[in-house]
Amino acid sequence: MKKQSVTQADAPAAPAGLALVIGAGGGLGAALLAQLSGAASAPGAAYPAVRALGRASEPAIDYDDEASLAVAAKWAASQCAEVGLPLRLLLVASGFLHGRQGQPERSLAQLDAGYLRHAFAVNAIGPALVMKHFFPLLAAQGRCVAGFLSARVGSIGDNALGGWYGYRASKAALNQLVKTASIELARRNRQAICVALHPGTVATSLSQPFAKTGLAVRPADVAAAELLAVLAGLNAQDTGSFRDYRGQPVPW
Ligand SMILES: NC(=O)c1ccc[n+]([C@@H]2O[C@H](COP(=O)([O-])OP(=O)(O)OC[C@H]3O[C@@H](n4cnc5c(N)ncnc54)[C@H](OP(=O)(O)O)[C@@H]3O)[C@@H](O)[C@H]2O)c1
Repeated sequence: MKKQSVTQADAPAAPAGLALVIGAGGGLGAALLAQLSGAASAPGAAYPAVRALGRASEPAIDYDDEASLAVAAKWAASQCAEVGLPLRLLLVASGFLHGRQGQPERSLAQLDAGYLRHAFAVNAIGPALVMKHFFPLLAAQGRCVAGFLSARVGSIGDNALGGWYGYRASKAALNQLVKTASIELARRNRQAICVALHPGTVATSLSQPFAKTGLAVRPADVAAAELLAVLAGLNAQDTGSFRDYRGQPVPW
């Protein structure tokens, strides 16, 4: 059978707005940025204006320094003004599982206050401050989307294995922040969508030490395209939900 090709005429129109990726230096953040910029994107995924922020961008963001988020939000507002487009897509792709601050715990005996503090700082407090400083920039009218990369292991209902206390608890905290902020955001714009996303297991430095043989590990560009397709298919009634990369709801 002849494969149907999508011509420019049938391709979905590019959303009229600016897209911003936070944590764009990470495996998934960089792949999302590439898709949105049109470098390797699916039809309709590209935005007319795309900007990126991370620890190494200019301005740089540092979750331990709220003032850096205030400066970055001012910069993002100036970028919207420069291109004459509102912020229509905000993606937060930052996250922490392992590093010099420690490794995910297998048992209570391995709990470490420094690791727990860092996991909560990066996975929950940082994204909460992003909500505080960047949500006021989201378009006040028409569809706009804020997507936060969470993880299925942050689901309380789905926790059958235990372990990974800090990562699980900090992602569960993120999920609650997403749900709560979705309610406030809807009061400002009834077409706004704010969701938590599970990307599946993706080949990045975050998953690398834990990607067991036999586990379906997908390349970051595939996962990014899937996540953007899920976001594109959501509507205002879906706000405040937790979705996986196939669009299926994940239990809280
Ligand atoms: N990979 C997977 O299998 C998988 C599975 C489930 C969920 N997730 C989630 O998906 C998201 C992206 O993960 P990834 O796989 O792309 O991981 P990654 O390659 O390690 O990227 C994570 C990014 O988070 C940002 N970040 C880390 N520490 C930070 C800090 N202290 N302050 C501010 N930003 C910080 C960095 O972005 P900058 O370098 O731009 O600052 C970093 O590159 C995370 O939320 C992760 O929990 C991933």
